[in-house]
Amino acid sequence: MTGASAPVPTAGVAMTALGVALIRARETARPDRLYADPLAEVFLSAARPGFDAGRWAGLERLAEQYFEGRTLAVEVVDEHVRESIAAGCRQVVLLGAGLDTRAFRLDLPPDIAFFEVDLPELFDFKEPVLGAHRAHPVCSRRIVAADLCGDWERVLLERGFRADVPTAWVDEGVLGYVPRAASYTVVETATRLSAPGSRFGIGRFQVDAAAPQYRALRELVLEVPEGRPVNGLGPDGESWFAAHGWRTTFRAWDELIAPYGRPSGLRGDPAVGHVVAVRE
Ligand SMILES: C[S@@+](CC[C@H](N)C(=O)[O-])C[C@H]1O[C@@H](n2cnc3c(N)ncnc32)[C@H](O)[C@@H]1O
Repeated sequence: MTGASAPVPTAGVAMTALGVALIRARETARPDRLYADPLAEVFLSAARPGFDAGRWAGLERLAEQYFEGRTLAVEVVDEHVRESIAAGCRQVVLLGAGLDTRAFRLDLPPDIAFFEVDLPELFDFKEPVLGAHRAHPVCSRRIVAADLCGDWERVLLERGFRADVPTAWVDEGVLGYVPRAASYTVVETATRLSAPGSRFGIGRFQVDAAAPQYRALRELVLEVPEGRPVNGLGPDGESWFAAHGWRTTFRAWDELIAPYGRPSGLRGDPAVGHVVAVRE
């Protein structure tokens, strides 16, 4: 199998995963790259023939507009995963994993159970491409093909997730697509499944719904140029964690990315950054 026959997500929310793959491929091609994700280009090569030229160009334009901040965020999440494992987490759960390849590209211990949760149509594309490329994960990777608005917990447990083992949870751009009430159900479920010492990484940022790139994203993916869906945890996410048995620590975005010497992609707002919640 070449992978070219994998059904390409050319519409809907699963398509956003290709936008982030474009960003990681672009980073990988830089001589001063922050990380290397060679599989990103493999996914793109398999996906490109499924798109008409105009739609693909629209996706590329969007990836370019979001590049500066989003590529740094990949590195910030890489660090969150490394720190969580160094602190004793033996499981990782990527919520809305998309075309992420941390289970292949990070230097993770082989005994780490690495769960990727995403929609079935995403894995219908991802798995054949990985298989055709004979990609081998460095740890115990397990896919959880399920909707986060549904019973993803059951599928996660069926795949061997253990609620008595500390877990590193990652939301890297998925809850922004999940309605607010369902987003809180997701974190309630994660809280119930989190042994002491588990860690949850949460982005704290402001979305400027009027910004041209945000409008372009809505048009391309959601096909709704007007109006802003009420998704994600919103401004109360961090305090929700603090009130539900998690100790939270905030680091400002500008401080987090200063060592990389790159433009931040954000406006230098000291309230924007990354929160790590540790289960007590
Ligand atoms: C912007 S992409 C981010 C992907 C990945 N975290 C990354 O950074 O490369 C959002 C991902 O969330 C997934 N997603 C959106 N809504 C979802 C839902 N209700 N259940 C599961 N996955 C969902 C999409 O399929 C997509 O892969």
